Amino acid sequence: RLAYGADYNPEQWPRETWDEDVRLMREAGVNVVSLAIFSWARLQPARGAWDFAWLDEVIDLLHENGIAVDLATATASPPPWLTTEHPEILPVTASGGILWPGARQHWRPTSPVFREHALKLVTAMAERYKDHPAVCAWHISNELGCHNIYDYSDDAARAFRGWLAERYGSIDVLNDAWGTDFWSQRYTDFQQILPPRQAASHANPTQQLDFKRFSSDALKQYLREERDILNVITPDIPVTTNFMVMGETKGMDYADWAGEVDFVANDHYFVPGPQGVDELSFSANLTGNIAGGNPWFLMEHSTSAVNWQPVNTPKKPGALRRDSLTHVAHGADAVCYFQWRQSRAGAEKFHSAMVPHAGEDSPIFRSVAGLGRELESLSDVAGSHRSPASAAILFDWNSWWASEQDSHPSDRLRYKQEALDWYSAFLALGLRVDVVPSAADLSGYALVVAPILHAVPAALKGRLEDYVQNGGHFVTGYFSGIADENDHIWLGGYPGAFADLLGVRVDEFGPLLDGESIQLDNGATATLWADRVQPSGHDVEILARYTTGEHSGDAAVTRRAVGNGSAAYMGARLGAPGLAPVLADLAASAGLSSELPAELRGAVEMVVRTDGRTDYVFLINRTDTAVDVTGVEGAPLPGWESKLDPRSVSVLTRRAAATG
Ligand code: GLA
Repeated sequence: RLAYGADYNPEQWPRETWDEDVRLMREAGVNVVSLAIFSWARLQPARGAWDFAWLDEVIDLLHENGIAVDLATATASPPPWLTTEHPEILPVTASGGILWPGARQHWRPTSPVFREHALKLVTAMAERYKDHPAVCAWHISNELGCHNIYDYSDDAARAFRGWLAERYGSIDVLNDAWGTDFWSQRYTDFQQILPPRQAASHANPTQQLDFKRFSSDALKQYLREERDILNVITPDIPVTTNFMVMGETKGMDYADWAGEVDFVANDHYFVPGPQGVDELSFSANLTGNIAGGNPWFLMEHSTSAVNWQPVNTPKKPGALRRDSLTHVAHGADAVCYFQWRQSRAGAEKFHSAMVPHAGEDSPIFRSVAGLGRELESLSDVAGSHRSPASAAILFDWNSWWASEQDSHPSDRLRYKQEALDWYSAFLALGLRVDVVPSAADLSGYALVVAPILHAVPAALKGRLEDYVQNGGHFVTGYFSGIADENDHIWLGGYPGAFADLLGVRVDEFGPLLDGESIQLDNGATATLWADRVQPSGHDVEILARYTTGEHSGDAAVTRRAVGNGSAAYMGARLGAPGLAPVLADLAASAGLSSELPAELRGAVEMVVRTDGRTDYVFLINRTDTAVDVTGVEGAPLPGWESKLDPRSVSVLTRRAAATG
């Protein structure tokens, strides 16, 4: 069956509360908890002193009650004795400040001293619990990189130099890649290189980009070191760590990390606002595709309000269930929350939980227990895979990093927002789409949209050209195709790498000032960016033109037919409402149509999981009004409704389309 549970922090509570906890867990249908995530200070009160007795007792208690344990390696937050003895493990900011103890995750990813102590703890945990039948998985650290992804310490400098020496082989190759003849930056030895610490002006862009790659790799390397210990001591227990495919968390290239864990796990927190529901689905979708379409584990989300947004509003009725089931729709086989019992003390005491401050006699606990019962009725879904869509949005960490660096035409550009706007446009049209990493196999997709695909190595350029030559329909847009993997400009006119494929030329970038906008003849409004697009051949069709100001009459959106395929360019930021009509046209030419009845498009998100015999069709009411999904092919699972209240979800089954 699907897993259901939470982070469980029993060390924050007296012993008698543990008995109440397991009673309520059983009542709610909880069958897994993540344990010991922030327990280092309890487990190792001093160098060489260990105290596992309390954890033994908790694990036994859970096991007796049929609750499995996703056991943390407990290394997420080093204890005060360690940082007092070894302040040299503390991370350093770009301007040389220290991230002091007192919160959490105050450790340098590259510190040999931290590693020595943390890996000792990992070994002790693995040895202690290797035979405990409750342990179903290892949970490495916690949200690696949440607070410490960028460390500019001397340890980081040393590790960065080693990483660069491996990447470039010689200092001359690095000088070429970094373009160091600009501003007299030529190095004669790797020892001269520093992380991009706060400097007098803009740091070298390739140095900045490489530091981002290095920082993601350094934490990935740390993840591997914990994992390798676990794999030796407990080869049969799967290992994971909780990713953060959410919001603007961008430091960790999870597409690159996914291969390091036995199953992908993710944390997601709802971002209130007009695209909140879209962002929720986007994150779940990308996570599912990072997991290769295989089931994954929703390690954390919230039952209601969080405590770290500027204003922390509670979830509306039905949203708890909708949010959880949206993750399940996109392939999650586990629904877990932060956290089981809302803390009385500490920085997260105002963060919601499965058992709120009010206790079990509360709307939140009743919703939690209700969802637990419903998840039991979804047991057959467990183990099924994502059923691929016919369209894809490419998501590329290198382009995210590179396109948002400083010294650019505009510092207003937001990579993830543009990708999300396209996703919203797909949702508005009722079209299923997969959000896939840029390394994914694209051959099964009729339409591929690559928003702000800025960093384009020759190999990726070639793959996309082949995709179009083979009949694929490719769409990209402003600030795409601009640079190669070294952040050097593709010459010959923008959009550089894609200028020939798209059959267009942009001579100067078109960033717009705040408050400025330009109208298009299709009714859309450009803000933030509006390239004046020159078609370079007769095979290029103009899909939309600007109608106001200096741009009036110029092309904004173009498409070039290439055999059975095409390559389209979106020169302006149109936002989700402006993208939808253009996408409708592009999707129709690619042969795509919505699987939803017309009246449900936009109101309902449809997501499909399949086990090869049966398709599980999830229908998510994205709106605050009731909808009726009777017209969708399939039969509701027993107990699931066709009339969907605001924010409600239904699951239909139908026979899977024959494959192979
Ligand atoms: C993260 C952490 C948890 C908790 C939650 C609060 O996801 O992993 O420990 O702090 O945020 O939202």
